[in-house]
Amino acid sequence: MRLTKLYALSLLLASMAAVTIPSVGAQDRLFSNEAKQKAEALLKQMTLDEKVGQLNESSGIVMPGLGSGKPDDLIANGGVGSILWQMDVKEINRLQHIAMEKSRLHIPIIFGFDVIHGYRTVFPVPLAMASSWDPSVEEQAQHLAAEDARAAGIQWTFTPMVDIARDARWGRIVEGAGEDPFLGSAMARAQVRGFQGAKLGPNSVLVCVKHFAGYGAAEGGRDYDSVYVPEELMENVYLVPFHAAEEAGAGSFMSAYMDLNEVPATGNHWLLTDVLRKEWGFQGFVLSDAFAVGSLVTHGYARDGEDAAYKAITAGLNMDMASLTYSHNLAKLVKDGKVSEKYLDEMVLPILETKYDLGLFEHPYADESKVDAILSRPEGLVLERKLASRSMVLLRNDNRALPLSKSLKKIAVIGPLGDSKQEIEGGWTVEGLFSPGGGKSHPVTILAGIKNKLGPDAQVTLVAGPMPARLYPGFMDAFSGRKPAPPPSPEEIADWIAKAKAAAADADVVVAVMGETASMSGEAASRSSLDLPGIQEQMLEAVTSAGKPVILVLENGRPLDIRWAAEHVPAILEAWYPGTEGGDAVADVLFGDVNPGGKLPVSWPRTAGSEPLYYNHTLTHEPEDAPRFTSRYWDINSKPLFPFGYGLSYSAFKFANLQLSKASIGVGGTTEVSVDVTNTGSVAGDAVAQLYIHQRYGSASRPVRQLKGFERIALQPGETKTLKFPLGKDELQYWNPQTKQWIVEPSDFDVWAGEDSTASLHAELKVTQ
Ligand code: BGC
Repeated sequence: MRLTKLYALSLLLASMAAVTIPSVGAQDRLFSNEAKQKAEALLKQMTLDEKVGQLNESSGIVMPGLGSGKPDDLIANGGVGSILWQMDVKEINRLQHIAMEKSRLHIPIIFGFDVIHGYRTVFPVPLAMASSWDPSVEEQAQHLAAEDARAAGIQWTFTPMVDIARDARWGRIVEGAGEDPFLGSAMARAQVRGFQGAKLGPNSVLVCVKHFAGYGAAEGGRDYDSVYVPEELMENVYLVPFHAAEEAGAGSFMSAYMDLNEVPATGNHWLLTDVLRKEWGFQGFVLSDAFAVGSLVTHGYARDGEDAAYKAITAGLNMDMASLTYSHNLAKLVKDGKVSEKYLDEMVLPILETKYDLGLFEHPYADESKVDAILSRPEGLVLERKLASRSMVLLRNDNRALPLSKSLKKIAVIGPLGDSKQEIEGGWTVEGLFSPGGGKSHPVTILAGIKNKLGPDAQVTLVAGPMPARLYPGFMDAFSGRKPAPPPSPEEIADWIAKAKAAAADADVVVAVMGETASMSGEAASRSSLDLPGIQEQMLEAVTSAGKPVILVLENGRPLDIRWAAEHVPAILEAWYPGTEGGDAVADVLFGDVNPGGKLPVSWPRTAGSEPLYYNHTLTHEPEDAPRFTSRYWDINSKPLFPFGYGLSYSAFKFANLQLSKASIGVGGTTEVSVDVTNTGSVAGDAVAQLYIHQRYGSASRPVRQLKGFERIALQPGETKTLKFPLGKDELQYWNPQTKQWIVEPSDFDVWAGEDSTASLHAELKVTQ
């Protein structure tokens, strides 16, 4: 069915007086039978208002400019199902006591927060963890974060963000796994496992997969902007990691802010009911993004609050985050017969089931006496340091500029991020410095990490330079307490540059730490340019001219325009925002205690004008390196500066002996691809074997390459491992725009294996009818 028809159908359904959600049994695994029975019994005792109350998530605080008053009375009246934005465990318990003791049916509140990359121990940002190409990095980090969150009274996290991001201008690229649906799916599953465990239980933290769906395709990379994505692109790319998370047992989803093909995601029946529930069989519940139900009026989609509540609930949205639109309108809609109480019951049920399975009825309170010890566990910091160094990507290493010698005596650390605690931790942290509940973690900066590594005999000096600032402050700036300084005057710039150059001239090695401040990526943090902001590039050029070896360490939430550095600076290490122990982890890599093995989860653009840029595009004309078409632009090479999947090591790897167990299979068949990977270097290191395919012809044009398998492996010098990957229905199928179905077509397929998306080791697979 065409999208337009589905849209028409969804309008038709929405206009019916009462809509029934189709009952599907596919995600039966989500809730226990006990939870189902108890939830059904409880529902029978609930008044209409109490049911509506469960569909309301109220603001627990006071976020600058956003918070509402204390929700005490509303809770006592059964009007609150969930609270968000409350990180103080004492306050969490106080509110829970009201729910358990004063509300008629004693239904516990589920407390939600954005535990995105750690709690007090802050892990690398999600884009960094995806750069590890090791799903166990995500799983381990999120498991620890889940233990921390649960101990601190938070049972629901608004993560994973699985939005595909093909445009680095979009600030929220930092919160996801990059541009690829296959890698993104692996990272999504790992996060579901890490937070929820094998099944929802008393130790789980419920995930909320967001932002459903298509949010990353915002026009021009501008956050919150409209999205136009045809159904085939939704199915083949944008929805893929969402489906993977759902299949892994994700218990809740969050609807996105924007319009998808002119229908706001929060009131989009096609997304929330046709795809999520009917096609996939999802049985959990859907939360709106913040204020998004009320915003249906702003979108010009709903007439008023009542219409917004009607459109959202009939589209399939269970819970209203913070706008109170359900609280004010749903009961009336039921009383007026516009929404049936049976339908409302179906919306409430999964929320109650979740609360039972999470053990909230038996254990509604956090143990305040234990929280601090749990959040400060030293093993958390040890894990953080390990995962951070696993997430870094070595982009350039000319003449083996890295690793550095530990007997160096004089190092100049240059740049505003060199000693910045906020930037080490990145944007979404609960008790990190840069957060609403912040200040309780102890981040190690890169300056400190280098000093820790070299000890007191080495002279490590810092020339910071001015911290770059956004032209328009972001709302996250309000939490950091950082007041953007006015841009430096020409005299101040000259002074900083002279100081940086002098420090470089006096040092054995320069470590330039540059990039973006943490508030320059994330929500409402899109950019029109990808330059190194402020005077950083000028400082970099100045220190490079001093003639000493320069190492550039990047801290940033998106690929940046580093064309100058990529030509003139011998070594570049992408550290992203590496987390609480980030400085020590960077030093581990710089001084060779850890051999970097991360790979890019995004194609690295040369400049903002190259965006959107992604490796898995279709070929619509001759390739850009064909003789007459040397580039798609006449003023710049169309290819990325570094390709998707790219990253160096202090070792070197050889890929050989690519073989298929069967060179020809039928459409339902499977072949096994094997490839040998050898460490040809002199030190142990990690390789990431990557498998790509291309379907040469069929009833739709297929991407020039698609990742269909990967594995990160550790190899000793001289060691060879043989890796095997299946290629069968799951890998070969695609959603066909002509038949509107998932199909495997008879065709010839190219198969490549190697170190990145430009791998040349090639084989062929024939798929016959
Ligand atoms: C963001 C979500 C986040 C929510 C709650 C929204 O503005 O888009 O990603 O989970 O706020 O903090």
